[in-house]
Amino acid sequence: MDALDVLAIMLVGLWVFLPAMLPNSAAVIFGGGTPVDFGKSWKGKRILGDGKTWRGFIGGGLSGVALGLLLIGISFIFDRNWLWGYMDLWTGIGVIFCLSFGSLIGDMIGSFIKRRLNIERGKKAPILDQYDFLIGAFLLTALFYPHWIYGTYMEGWHLMALIFLLIMTLLLHRIMNIIGYKTGLKDVPW
Ligand code: CTP
Ligand code: MG
Repeated sequence: MDALDVLAIMLVGLWVFLPAMLPNSAAVIFGGGTPVDFGKSWKGKRILGDGKTWRGFIGGGLSGVALGLLLIGISFIFDRNWLWGYMDLWTGIGVIFCLSFGSLIGDMIGSFIKRRLNIERGKKAPILDQYDFLIGAFLLTALFYPHWIYGTYMEGWHLMALIFLLIMTLLLHRIMNIIGYKTGLKDVPW
């Protein structure tokens, strides 16, 4: 295995995780309206807070699924054995749903934890803010498609893909939040 192989593995690891990367940014665009917790509190603090809305959840989730379907479509057209095309269609669709909605569920669990720790909606929570969605996407996908997770991220050198993904997530999270702030979609640049 040479350096180019390692680079390819890292890029593939990021590429196949795109359906989990998009939903959180898309939720900022679709978000608003009824909160997921319907405004309810638990022990004096909001369960999730106004930053988690049904529109963000559904709109963000379906955006990730749509992107995933596009990736599957591209693989089917050009090379059935390439990335998203190597598994059967229904497995691919299942993985995409898990990645996309898993990321938003992870994001909501992150908010749940923040509220319990007395951190207000929109206030910073290092590590939790950057990785809650990644953990959610991984766990939900691993629950239903353990072989996909194992094959893509754990098998042999593929661990490099996971490490690369963790680093790139930090970077992308930062970039997307700055874009969200500059375009006026977000109130704070984090
Ligand atoms: N959003 C949404 N629904 C979701 C997730 C996100 O509507 N399920 C929108 C909200 O407008 C939210 C924005 O995307 O304010 C940014 O998301 P995030 O940073 O996760 O939320 P915060 O407002 O920072 O709230 P929290 O402190 O709970 O993370
Ligand atoms: Mg936030």
